[in-house]
This record gives sequence, structure tokens and C-alpha cells, in this order.
Amino acid sequence: MSAARYAFLQPGRYARGWHIVLFSQELAVGEVRRLHYFARDLVAYRGESGRVGIVDAHCPHLGAHLASGGGRVSGDTIACPFHGWVFDHNGRCVDIPYARAIPERAVDALRGWPVLERNGFIALWYDPEGNPPEDYLPDIPEWGAQGWGDWVFYRSRIRARACDVIENIVDIAHFPHVHAGKVRKWENRFGERTVTQLSTVDRDPGAQMIVPPGVPFDLEGMHKEQAGQGAEAWGDATYHGPSIMYYYTESSGAELSYRAWWVNCHTPVNQEELDLCSAVIVSSLDERPLPGEFAQLYPQTAHIAFGQDVEIWKDKVYRADPILCDGDGPINKLRRWYEQFYLPRS
Ligand code: FES
Ligand SMILES: [Fe+2]
Repeated sequence: MSAARYAFLQPGRYARGWHIVLFSQELAVGEVRRLHYFARDLVAYRGESGRVGIVDAHCPHLGAHLASGGGRVSGDTIACPFHGWVFDHNGRCVDIPYARAIPERAVDALRGWPVLERNGFIALWYDPEGNPPEDYLPDIPEWGAQGWGDWVFYRSRIRARACDVIENIVDIAHFPHVHAGKVRKWENRFGERTVTQLSTVDRDPGAQMIVPPGVPFDLEGMHKEQAGQGAEAWGDATYHGPSIMYYYTESSGAELSYRAWWVNCHTPVNQEELDLCSAVIVSSLDERPLPGEFAQLYPQTAHIAFGQDVEIWKDKVYRADPILCDGDGPINKLRRWYEQFYLPRS
């Protein structure tokens, strides 16, 4: 198997599918935000009806950036700050205030991107072939429900390959070395657009971990303390498509019992970089309220867990034909599943 075998290793390729670009709370009505993903300059705006539009950033007229000077939203359209050409969420030019007629070439000159706002996040459909999006992202009923609240999220721009990030979902053997975890139960399930990890991982005070730089507390000390409390935790981590993972976990202990949803996603910035984001909502599993300190710290620990992996990803090379052993997870199966997002849909 050569490196050329995988389409996801070819330069200039990004996975077809939904990719989270913002959380809903980051875009108010009338606001325009600059984005840079898939090696493109984009703008996101929220129209007066609440509808979000994402279009290419540079005006087809004389090239102004649609967010220059803060951007201008009117109704559900965005107006270019340079000469006032007006575009809708599809990128369609709908008005030129000083022209008698809109030039034919201008109508479809700006690219608009399909957008889905669901569960408090805003996702963009990326498809180089330009086919209509699929509807595979499930609802998270607990988001916004009583006792849960809105996402607390952390986002970092990192140097990593998307194919390394996704592989984490089947990599059973790295837990005792990177996350100081002892795997008690583990199962991977593959669906058409999903890959799931059902796991029960104990904190193991004897195992090793990577401490990422900049952690504002004693990670190893906290880990050992929690390992001593013997909390039982299980989780269901499922990728829906190539870059958005939902993780549901429940943990019961003498001190504390909680359940949480995480949304972990990686959105390609360009060929070298990704935005890695972890968002968390957490709620008590019983009648005991969550201690304030825990509710504050827990969402950070989610991002730190990824930070442990980042320390590996940023330095590793990609083995397209890896030497695997019988204790490894289904690495090659995951790669074949992941490949679908880079092949033409036909
Ligand atoms: S550059 Fe946008 S209207 Fe002229
Ligand atoms: Fe990991």
C-alpha cells in the first residue's frame, strides 16, 4: 500500500462534509465575521431573521473584503462596503444600488456555502463537486435544556493532519501512554457516515501521560487524586462525518456524578493547520448539584485531553503502510472508512 493510495494524502484535498466553523453564540444578528478555512477567505454573517450566511470573502466587483469596516448586513443580505453591491446567503448578487441592470456575470460570481445551524453550532458544507449537502448531523436534545446551558468551548489552531486526528477514535493502544488511562472496555463500530468508540477507561495512577504546555494546574496531581476516588465512567464517542465528533459520557463517583456532552471538531484551515475545538455541556447525574469549581474546570480538561494528542500529532510522520500488532485498534479499517470523504460521490 503506497501513500498515493489514499486520496486524503493528496495535496489540496479537504474532506467533503459538514465542518463546524463557529458556535451560534459567536455570531449575533447583524454581525459579520471573517473566517479562513479550506485555504479560503470566507465571511459569515447573521441576517435580521437570524439566518446565517457564509460566502467567499472577496467581492466579485473590484475585490473588496465583505467584512472590511466591520461588514454591513441588511435584512438577510450582506452589502459590500466598497460600492454597495448586495448579496444573499447563496452569494447571488441581488442589488447594485447605482446600476440600472445587474450584469449577467455578476449574478453567480460570488460563491455561497451551504450552512447548517444546529445544537448551538454553525457548520459549513464543504464539497469540491458542489453537490447538495447530506443531513446526517443528529440533534443533541440536552443542549439548551434545563440544567445544561450553552457550550463552553476552547479552540486552538494547531499543526496537524486531519487524518491523524480522526485515527484517535480507533487507537486503543495510546491511552496508557498519552492519557494515563486504563482501557477496561472498548468497541469500535462503523456506520455509513459514522464511526463510534464505546469505551470504559479508568484513570490509572500508574500509567503515563503527556502534559501539554500551558496547563494552568497540576494535571498529573489532579489525575492521581481522581484515580484514587475510583469513579466509574463510560462514554460513546461518535464521528458524524469526517470532522465532527459527539461524545456522551457518564461518570459516577462518591464525590461527584455527572453526565456531559462534548462536541469535538477539527476544521481544516489549510494543508498544514487545523482549528481544533472542544465544546462541553455538563449536568449532574443525580440530585447533588455540581460544585462550581468542577463546572468551571471540566470543559478545560476536555480540551487538555486533546492537547495531549496534539503533542504527538504536531511532530509525527504519517505511515501510510503501518506495521501493526494484534493489540492495535482497527487503524486500516478507519482509514478506508475515512477515504470516502475524499472520493467523488459517484
Ligand atoms: S468591490 Fe464590492 S461593490 Fe465594489
Ligand atoms: Fe487521544
